[in-house]
Order: sequence, then C-alpha cells, then structure tokens
Amino acid sequence: MSLLDKIKKAGAELTDALTGTPTLLREIKEKAATRRKTIVLCEGEDKRVVEAAAKITAEGIAKIVLIGNEAECKKVAPDVDLTGITLVDPLTSDKTEEYANILYEARKAKGMTKEQAAEQAKDRTMFGALMLKAGDVDGYVSGACHSTANTLRPGLQVVKTASGIKTVSSCFIMIAPDKNNPYNPDGVAVFADCAINIEPTAEQLADIAITSAATAKAIAGIEPKVAMLSFSTKGSGNDDKFTQTVPKVQKATELAKAAAPSLALDGEFQFDAAVAPEVGQLKAPGSPVAGHANVFVFPNINAGNIGYKIAQRFGGYMAIGPVCQGFAKPLNDLSRGCSVDDIVATVAVTALQAE
Ligand SMILES: CC(C)(COP(=O)(O)OP(=O)(O)OC[C@H]1O[C@@H](n2cnc3c(N)ncnc32)[C@H](O)[C@@H]1OP(=O)(O)O)[C@@H](O)C(=O)NCCC(=O)NCCS
Repeated sequence: MSLLDKIKKAGAELTDALTGTPTLLREIKEKAATRRKTIVLCEGEDKRVVEAAAKITAEGIAKIVLIGNEAECKKVAPDVDLTGITLVDPLTSDKTEEYANILYEARKAKGMTKEQAAEQAKDRTMFGALMLKAGDVDGYVSGACHSTANTLRPGLQVVKTASGIKTVSSCFIMIAPDKNNPYNPDGVAVFADCAINIEPTAEQLADIAITSAATAKAIAGIEPKVAMLSFSTKGSGNDDKFTQTVPKVQKATELAKAAAPSLALDGEFQFDAAVAPEVGQLKAPGSPVAGHANVFVFPNINAGNIGYKIAQRFGGYMAIGPVCQGFAKPLNDLSRGCSVDDIVATVAVTALQAE
C-alpha cells in the first residue's frame, strides 16, 4: 500500500470512529460503489425507500430501479430529488407482458394459468423478482412494508436456488464494538440461520453452513472457520431422545464436509468449544476449527435468533442482515422497522452478492 493510500485509510478510519460507522460497513459500501450494479427496490410507495434510493444514487453505491411512479414518490417524499433513479410502474411498463410469460413458464407445472400469471406479474414484489430473473437488474431488495414471506416468496418461486444448493437461508454479519475480544479476534463473525428456516433438516443445515461460509468470505471479508453449534461437543451431550438435535447436527456436519471438503468446518460444538482455544483443545483435540470459529451455524431459528440478539444487546455487536443466501441471484429482505441507512446498507450488500 502506498503512503498516500495509508494516509487515506487512516483518515477514513478516524472518520468511522468519530461517526460511529463500523469500518466494515464503510468498506462494503466502497466496494459496492466500484461495482456499479443495478438493484431494484420494489417499494416506491414507502418514504424510507424513496429516500434511500436517492442516497444510494447520490453516493454512487449502485444504480437504482425503483418500482413506483413519479406522482406517488413525490407524494410520500416530496423533497427527494429523483434524478438518476429509474422509475418503473408494472401497471404501465411495456415489460409486464414479457415478465408474465416468464412467470407462467416458471409456475405452469404448479398449476398457474396464463391469466393468473398476467395478474401476478403486476404485483410489485413479483415484478421485481421477474426483473431479476430476466437479467434486467443484478439484485432485489424489498420488505420495508411487506412480510418476510411475501418478500421472499416471489424469489423462491421464480429465481430459485443456486446450482448445487437446495436451501435459501439467511445470516447476520455481526460486527464487534472493537477488536479486543480474544474469542473474536477478527472483530466480525457470521451467525446463521436466524431468520428463515425454522427447524432445518440435516441437509438444510449443511446448505446453510456452505452458503454462510461463502457469505463470510464475500461480504464479511474473513476466511471462514465454520462451527456447527449444539448443546453437545463431539458427542458429550448426546442424550436428547426427544428432539434428536445432536444427531441432526452431527449428520449435517458430515454432509457439509462431504460437499465442501476444502472448507474449514467441524462440529458438533458447544459455543465455548467453538470460540475458546483452551476449551476447544480439551473437548475437540485436533479439530481445525474448535477454539477459532468465526462462522456459527445454529441448530434452528430459535437458537439463532436468540443468539444474535444476545450478542447485540449484551455484547454490543452490530448486526447487518438478515443477508439472504442460496438464491441463484441476490434477493434481500428488509425489516419493516428499517431505517434509510439500513436500506442503503442492504443494497450495498446485495451489490456485493451480484455476479
Ligand atoms: C422462507 C419462508 C418465508 C417461505 O414461506 P412460504 O412462501 O410460505 O413458503 P412455501 O412453503 O409456500 O414455499 C414456496 C416455495 O418456496 C420453496 N421454499 C420455501 N422455503 C424455502 C427455502 N428455505 N429454500 C428453498 N426453497 C424454499 C418451496 O419449496 C416452494 O416452492 P414451490 O412452490 O416451487 O414448490 C418461510 O420459511 C418463513 O416464513 N420463514 C420464517 C420467516 C420468519 O418469520 N422470520 C422471522 C423474521 S426475523
């Protein structure tokens, strides 16, 4: 790195510290800006989405297609400058018919008629997913005013999963308040699946592990060491005759190892065996992951969702996500309580996921 670059980096890090912006988040936005991907935001009827579209455009993070029309955007966000944003209205677009055909082809085996496809293609979230499927945009972000199921269903139905993956899942990128925690020296970790799959099977857990490792590398910028979490370490607590979660995590570990033999992945581990070298060495001697994990696959959504919120509230971690993974092309779901800055961050992450 040249001296000038070093000075620029130090200046940016100082600004991060003063503004409370995690360095990783700034880096994600900077990387996204170099890619200039086109992302569709499906909810032009939401003020926060219109404001985020303008902010993303002004900062050059991505090119934005906003589903909505000018009169409506002006009504919800009258002071926002829409220059540089492409507005598309499914009710008047000359693409709606072409997209209806794509939808019909994707769903006819499931009993969809041409008439139903023509009607459903006008729905904004479906229209956005069809734009993505058609290759007219590189990524999709929605959910500011729709539920997770309504946001992801169009993607599940038409975009489908990436080759070799059967499960769409999600993860949170957890950013530590500082790098002083000996159990998380990278200052960043990935937690999955905390938001989509409620009670994943062993096969689904294996998919979650493999896609989370890819997200850790591509978005969090860390070399993944994946721990398959449980209340048991290497058989120590294998007595759950009712729930059978330990055998499930053990089977998932085997399946993931077989599918991705070069990935640093191991289990099943209790959380302390996964992150504390002294416990890892004692309970799982010789494991390439025990004591040093940075990607954590929880056995179900209860454990994952509770776990990431404990890290947030007790540990002071910032959670970016949920980042959806496993789709053939990137789609992401916003929380209905999201802020403008959350939407900007989600668009930046989506741009990094795009090919
Ligand atoms: C992912 C989710 C949104 C899908 O809900 P849904 O639309 O009701 O799902 P359906 O069961 O109707 O399935 C729709 C299609 O998607 C597929 N699908 C569903 N979940 C999938 C997954 N995780 N991965 C891949 N495909 C999936 C189904 O196989 C089905 O495909 P098909 O119609 O071609 O046969 C659902 O799992 C869910 O609601 N999860 C919990 C979300 C939640 O409450 N999170 C808390 C927020 S923090």
